[in-house]
Amino acid sequence: MEDSKIPDKQLPGQTLEVVAKSFYKQALEYGFKREDFLRFVNILLDLGLGRNGVYTPPPSIKEDAPPPSSPADDKEQVTVRVYEESDYDLLRGWMEDSAGRLFLTTRPDPPRFNTLEALLNSETSRFGIVSLNGRPIGALAYLNIDTDQRKAELRKLIGDVAARGHGYAKRATQYWIEYGVSTLALRKIYVNTLDTNLANIRLNEHLGFRIEGVLRDEVMLDGEYQDVLRMSLILP
Ligand SMILES: CC(C)(COP(=O)(O)OP(=O)(O)OC[C@H]1O[C@@H](n2cnc3c(N)ncnc32)[C@H](O)[C@@H]1OP(=O)(O)O)[C@@H](O)C(=O)NCCC(=O)NCCS
Repeated sequence: MEDSKIPDKQLPGQTLEVVAKSFYKQALEYGFKREDFLRFVNILLDLGLGRNGVYTPPPSIKEDAPPPSSPADDKEQVTVRVYEESDYDLLRGWMEDSAGRLFLTTRPDPPRFNTLEALLNSETSRFGIVSLNGRPIGALAYLNIDTDQRKAELRKLIGDVAARGHGYAKRATQYWIEYGVSTLALRKIYVNTLDTNLANIRLNEHLGFRIEGVLRDEVMLDGEYQDVLRMSLILP
């Protein structure tokens, strides 16, 4: 095809041909046989065309999109909004009981990077506040947001003890995941959880997270070393 006839934004045919010839030469040296080219092209088509046969470029970061919420007419409306400085005392208070402290323990980073203050001020963190009918009940966070690799660590906390076990964490985390995908362009979301934190493990499983591995004796808590499970969710 003549370059002058190429529609806007389409790569020039000559360039594709040069790339293909170069690949062909290397593939022969690598030992490709006739059927290997066919298999290779099939893999390439699957990767390039995605699920619906339409190529979708990776999303980009949209700074000001708010996290989604449940419908306004919902009797138990769960919302997640971006953290504000005035939320600090509430969040600090939620982290004081024996379950609440787990919000930030079990992290693999050194302690000085793991204080609430350091994490709130970090450019690679994003905190959210969970509310039930307008009343704050908990928090969510993305930590170590890696925009190149499109991954981040998720943390969650229902700070109001009476609000635990009602499905609010599940709904709020679903909204936070949607926010991570649509606004932060995340592709992989991972969690680090004590292997004894069954509520959290079950909840993660419900949300589609799968165990990647066990970090043995990863944290010392109440005088005992404890294993940490690393779980992750890979998004399409
Ligand atoms: C982990 C935590 C966020 C879960 O919040 P929650 O409000 O209790 O969770 P939900 O009510 O949304 O429960 C969702 C699912 O978790 C599971 N779950 C909740 N509590 C459970 C418990 N005590 N035992 C076993 N599973 C439990 C259930 O499977 C439930 O789904 P189902 O009711 O459909 O079976 C909450 O316990 C918490 O804040 N813990 C302290 C902080 C923490 O551990 N954070 C995790 C580290 S990042």
